[in-house]
Amino acid sequence: MKIALGVGGGIAAYKAAEVARRLMERGHTVQVILTESAQQFIQPLTFAALTGQKVITGLFSEASPEATLSSSVEHIGVAQESDLLLVAPATADLLAKFAHGLAPDFLSTTYLAFTGPVVLAPAMNSNMWQHPATQANVAVLRQRPGHHLIAPDSGLLACGTTGPGRLAEPDQIAAFVDAVAHPRHDLEGETILITAGPTQEPLDPVRYITNRSSGKMGYALAEAARDRGARVVLITGPVHIEEPAGVEMVHVRTAQQMREAVMAQLDQASIIIKAAAVADYHVVDVPDQKVKKSALRLSLNLDPTPDILAEAGRRKGDRLLIGFAAETQNLVAEARRKLETKHCDMVVGNLVNSTSTGFESDMNEVTLVMSTGETVEVPAAAKRAIADVIFDHALRLRLALHGAA
Ligand code: PMT
Repeated sequence: MKIALGVGGGIAAYKAAEVARRLMERGHTVQVILTESAQQFIQPLTFAALTGQKVITGLFSEASPEATLSSSVEHIGVAQESDLLLVAPATADLLAKFAHGLAPDFLSTTYLAFTGPVVLAPAMNSNMWQHPATQANVAVLRQRPGHHLIAPDSGLLACGTTGPGRLAEPDQIAAFVDAVAHPRHDLEGETILITAGPTQEPLDPVRYITNRSSGKMGYALAEAARDRGARVVLITGPVHIEEPAGVEMVHVRTAQQMREAVMAQLDQASIIIKAAAVADYHVVDVPDQKVKKSALRLSLNLDPTPDILAEAGRRKGDRLLIGFAAETQNLVAEARRKLETKHCDMVVGNLVNSTSTGFESDMNEVTLVMSTGETVEVPAAAKRAIADVIFDHALRLRLALHGAA
């Protein structure tokens, strides 16, 4: 495919060179458009050398140095000849221009003239990303047909702050572009029920017990299933990440509420995936008033919560049931134990005592344990890529179990 790669003027512009390289490795041709501010961060010659294409740097004809080419109608040509428009990094300024149809430069003009799929990979300071104006522009673009957004990662940013706003990894961007460029429809006709996030078990009207689940793994599964044509029902505990568009959301708080929601949706589902980190215990007799602090030790009486996965295992019929196992040791043995005791068809095991994978991370590394006896190690990758691998194996497993894809 011919990909127009728009590069915005942020410190992450240098990573766009790696994105271009990854796209070319995947067989695409890349036509780079550098905004004026992007040229403050990276030279056109870098991309010209990488892509073998002249780099577009301006809207109107100008004396073109060796590695650049621009003309007043070039943007129409790029828009007509490109199969996909990727903007990485997409700055707050570019998102605002795209959302409001402003076109003062080559890239925003090309955006308006382009009618194919658009992939936006934002990158900016955390405060800028979380500003209501940026979030409003993102919401507009997310709802626009043919637009896909790769949410920025969280972590240490170039400006020295820590938080959301870091450009997604180049390989994740390239994989995402491929998924958009070559949409798969192998989950069409499926209704997939997914749970995600933590539950909150009240201690009193003010306090609760919870865990570190961010919801990212479950939400990535929901996006992957949606993009492959499924109807997706996502039952989620309280999280702080954006809801995937085109997915039916059910919000719950406690394990009991999650159980009720799962059982209400179970019969309609063909595949059930339990990625939520459900509390194993809840407080017995939650007081109506806030527990007052005292010098004395506070003891809690905790009872087990309903084991939703086990109950789904008893009721699943010929539905495909996929559980998760969050372990700190004995991963495969524990995953297999859960597979057998809860009548799952697959359990996705992941170690959660690592900062780079598991809870809250954008990455994960899993072991798929299947009822056929097979075990598949999936190396560390973005949760969205892991989600696609889980569905690939789930369909293969169902074929092996029920003879139906
Ligand atoms: O949300 P992220 O930040 O992206 O982190 C992802 C994750 C680490 C939460 C996810 O990959 C994961 O491991 N989810 C399962 C967490 C968990 O509760 O694992 P567990 O081994 O304690 O539970 C085993 C299975 O039983 C899970 O499918 C769980 O959903 C289910 N369960 C657990 C308790 C309960 N009362 N009812 C259940 O259905």
